[in-house]
Amino acid sequence: MYIKFNTIKFKNFLSYGNGWTTLNFNNKLNLINAQNGAGKSTIVDAISFVLFGKPYRDIKMKSLVNYINKRHLEVEIQFDIGKDSYRMLRGLAPSKFELYKNGEMVEALSSKKLNQIEIDKLLGVKYLLFKNVMCIGAISNVPFFNMCLSDRRELLETIFGLTNIADMLDEVKDRRSNDNITIKTMSATKTGLENSINDLIKIIADMEQKSRNFETNKADRLEKVKEHIEQQKSDLVKHETNIQKCEEKCAELEPDFAELDDTMTRIRERVAGLAEHKAKVTSLTKIYDFREKNKCPICGTDFCSDHAKEYFDGILAEINMEQGFYDTLNEKQKADEESAEKMRNSKSFYEKVKSRISTEQTVIEGLKRGIDYDEKQYKEIEAETNGFDPSDQRKRVEEYRKQLKICNDTIDETSERVAIDTDLITILSDSGIKRYFFEEIVPILNLKINEYIKKFGLNVEVIFDSMLEYTLTRGAFEMEYNGLSNGEKTRVNVAMLLTFYDIAKQLSNWSSSILFMDEIFDTGIDGEGITDFLKELITMIQGDSNLGVYLISHKLNDLNFSQIQYKFETLRVQKKGCFSQLVKDRNEQGSPS
Ligand SMILES: Nc1ncnc2c1ncn2[C@@H]1O[C@H](COP(=O)(O)OP(=O)(O)OP(=O)(O)O)[C@@H](O)[C@H]1O
Ligand SMILES: [Mg+2]
Repeated sequence: MYIKFNTIKFKNFLSYGNGWTTLNFNNKLNLINAQNGAGKSTIVDAISFVLFGKPYRDIKMKSLVNYINKRHLEVEIQFDIGKDSYRMLRGLAPSKFELYKNGEMVEALSSKKLNQIEIDKLLGVKYLLFKNVMCIGAISNVPFFNMCLSDRRELLETIFGLTNIADMLDEVKDRRSNDNITIKTMSATKTGLENSINDLIKIIADMEQKSRNFETNKADRLEKVKEHIEQQKSDLVKHETNIQKCEEKCAELEPDFAELDDTMTRIRERVAGLAEHKAKVTSLTKIYDFREKNKCPICGTDFCSDHAKEYFDGILAEINMEQGFYDTLNEKQKADEESAEKMRNSKSFYEKVKSRISTEQTVIEGLKRGIDYDEKQYKEIEAETNGFDPSDQRKRVEEYRKQLKICNDTIDETSERVAIDTDLITILSDSGIKRYFFEEIVPILNLKINEYIKKFGLNVEVIFDSMLEYTLTRGAFEMEYNGLSNGEKTRVNVAMLLTFYDIAKQLSNWSSSILFMDEIFDTGIDGEGITDFLKELITMIQGDSNLGVYLISHKLNDLNFSQIQYKFETLRVQKKGCFSQLVKDRNEQGSPS
């Protein structure tokens, strides 16, 4: 991928004020020269900020905003990738980000909101690579030789485009750690589910027992009520039969005392007649008793015998007649009283039977009420619901078993994936496929860096092994990077940077139209060394008609350029008042050497 940068403009960025400062990138060698604190490195921070959302140097985001104006920091960069033109704008206070492709705003490169990973993909370069092959700073960039091994490897992986493997490794590691979390979580869930299932099984067994007890108890009670109903019904039949028998008996008895009332009437009526006849017999007998005294009962005179005889015979006849009446009547009375007695006995028996019927009826009514009550009771018992229905618990057990199966399946699948990923991690790790790549890459790296070191007139050789440990030798003597002089260090560092630049361009197929070098020439390098570097940079520019190299320095001056024969541009940065300004100064031709 090739990125052609066209222009950058910024305002309120660090020492720059509210007016836009614009830098149109060219394909020349440029010197950005000014005194300390003028605002040179700020340009590199602005490029880094607009492309990657963070400055080149380790400056907090909020400190990027010009402290006088305090707001409206904006940086806009325009570049082309292939046939597409892009305009990217970032701001702080307020924060903003805009990306335009061929004049149209790109909301998102995917369905998600545009994020830096996607922007990195669009640019084809990550922050780390940008810091080492596009904008190189001597001060804020740790020299490769002083980096820890893992940082060296990361940088080389990025430069050689091995980040896919690193990304894959990260991805697999992430996946494995997520999978391990999943296994842990699932195992905990599994234990929870198993405990819940066991608890529920106990509850179900308990409920089933209670349910059985309930049903047995219900059946017993129903049976008892049913038996009671049957008993009452059978009693009912008995009592109804009794009533029937009693009624038959009553019907049988009724004629026996049908005449009682008439007989009694007769007896009552006869009493007066009997008394009358009795009284007559008594009074006649009193009269007749005078026959013994032979005196008239009325006047007391003596009877003449004939007359008295006749009279008393008459009385006697009358007594006998009255006695006859009385006796006849009395006989009838006795016969009626006898018959009345019988009839009363019959009636009394009849009434007893009748009373028995009413007793039986009362009993029957009681039985009927009892049956009604029991039948109601039976229905109520029958309607009683078994509160010990474990179907909900059974459903939950089913559901938990399903979840348990999912847990077990997930644990199995995830464990399998963890096993595969563990193998993959070995393959993708430093000792695996990456080692293979490094074994291929390191010879190229060694070749390139030593070529540059030689060009810079340094008599040392650097050999990296596949783990990126280096051996630095001067002739037969081994030495350390930190044992080199400052100027030698700068030569080795620039050799390394140019090696990276070449490799990124040739092997990773990524390059851009700008190369910024901040203070690379300001640390310890002598005039000869500077001339060697400049010559090398000119070779690079001549080999790439689109490349513009920007050397930021407070030290380089026209004198250095007089050693090389090359047309260069000078951009001056100056502080006007409190704010920095970028001024295109002049167009110069280096003097022929
Ligand atoms: N937020 C800010 N607002 C205004 N000025 C700031 C802010 N932060 C830093 N500065 C100042 O901006 C100036 C420019 O800094 P810069 O690092 O670009 O200078 P330089 O030209 O690279 O200097 P040197 O040659 O020393 O590297 C410095 O004086 C610095 O103190
Ligand atoms: Mg600086």
